[in-house]
Amino acid sequence: MEQPIKEPIYQSIGGCDIEIPSPFCLIIFGAYGDLAKRKLIPSLYHLYKNKLISENFFILGCGRLEADRGYFLEMMRTSVENAFPHEFDNSSWSEFAEKLYYSSLDFGSPESYIKSLKEKLSSLEKKHQTKGNRIFYLAIPSSVFETVIVNLGSSGLSAEREGYSHIIIEKPFGRDIESAKKLNKILRQYFEERQIFRIDHYIAKETIQNILMFRFANAIFEPLWNRKYIDHVQISALETLGVEHRAGYYEEAGVIRDMFQSHILQLFAITAMEPPVAFEADRVREEKIKVFRSIRPFPLDRLDEYVVIGQYGKGEISGHPVIGYMEESGVSPMSNTPTFAAMKVFIDNWRWQGVPFYLRSGKRLSSRKAEISIHFRPVPHMMFSRVMNEFIEGNILCFRIQPDEGITLSFQTKRPGSLICLKQVIMDFSYEKGVHIDAYEWVLLDCMLGDQLLFLRQEGVELTWSLLTPVLEKLESMGKLPVYEAGSSGPDEARLLIERDGRSWMPLE
Ligand code: BG6
Repeated sequence: MEQPIKEPIYQSIGGCDIEIPSPFCLIIFGAYGDLAKRKLIPSLYHLYKNKLISENFFILGCGRLEADRGYFLEMMRTSVENAFPHEFDNSSWSEFAEKLYYSSLDFGSPESYIKSLKEKLSSLEKKHQTKGNRIFYLAIPSSVFETVIVNLGSSGLSAEREGYSHIIIEKPFGRDIESAKKLNKILRQYFEERQIFRIDHYIAKETIQNILMFRFANAIFEPLWNRKYIDHVQISALETLGVEHRAGYYEEAGVIRDMFQSHILQLFAITAMEPPVAFEADRVREEKIKVFRSIRPFPLDRLDEYVVIGQYGKGEISGHPVIGYMEESGVSPMSNTPTFAAMKVFIDNWRWQGVPFYLRSGKRLSSRKAEISIHFRPVPHMMFSRVMNEFIEGNILCFRIQPDEGITLSFQTKRPGSLICLKQVIMDFSYEKGVHIDAYEWVLLDCMLGDQLLFLRQEGVELTWSLLTPVLEKLESMGKLPVYEAGSSGPDEARLLIERDGRSWMPLE
């Protein structure tokens, strides 16, 4: 039905005007799962408390568990209190909780979509006046995606009548190229591409969004952003946490599916892409897709020169002893699942020919850090070499994604006093600490607004799987993995991967 055009309403937060989306309802499949508890419900509460969403909304949690609304509210309250120990308050929680419902649902039974879900939605939609706008959030194991999508589609819930009907799919989007293609096919049977929101919360992190602004709104960097001035690029997403209680999922995934296929390759594409003609979802996503299309396939016969994997053994993190991956609960004592990977990747295009991108990610490392560093070439002529021995290092531009989000640029200056002595100094931009909108809050807001800029397009997902599937197959056919000590910087082979090229990883601390 044609909607009357309304002027957008904005709310100012931290000096930034944010558009308030129209009324909506959010149906969370997997309402008792880790993601719903740790991220989704706290994010929605935070958006509500900061008046960034309409008063007219409701959230319907769906899960297999037979439980009443009271129990659900109690669990969610605890999660929100844990997520915002300082910002939580009883009165905003009580208002928020009035819009929170739970319904047990048999995901596999088509009848329950028509009987329980559809009927419940209609009555809640009347009560909360949400104008028929629906978001289905699949926060469930990927093995159940297909069943839920088919049942949503065949019960008519994917169809748009009064308002929009959007679906959010969590990663991993498949486990190889074949399964990703199959999932896309099923989705497209019932939903149009503009209704599909394939999520990658990394793209919504503040500093990642900033890379595009930084690259394309400052005239001084873009002319240097190419093989002529850049020696190499490093992208790291390192964690101190282990597998926690997610062994069931992680044993199937491992670090390449969990972190590289989406998060790391998205960071890679944003760093390497050409300037889009406009800051619009499809223009930006087209440029990222071109990067994926230009990645040089890994030489499978010499894979060890390009890819290193490893698994954490026991060790110490921040002075506390921790167990190895194979001792974790739910992990097979014979597990060959990698928890660390490092890769060297080349892009075969005009801009990046010959520039290596070194990527690494792992669990149980000595510190938590995610960053992208651009390593510029050193000066072409060392005119100081006759008067001092120091090698003049190239400048490094570093986007700190977490913790302590910001951007630094290192450069050389003369050390005061001494005749000729250089000193590396750092120009540092840090985000102000104020009300902070989390990555999950951004993606939820954007999905409500129908803006797909921060979401993945079908073609992009399939291209990344095409690149990684042969690598995964080869790695999975190989023998035992190198073990690295928990609390270290990863396997020694990863250090050699970059040192063989005469370079070194950015330090972990
Ligand atoms: C998730 C992965 O997508 O990202 C986890 O499944 C990982 O294994 C997490 O720990 C890291 O996200 P963040 O935002 O904490 O860096």
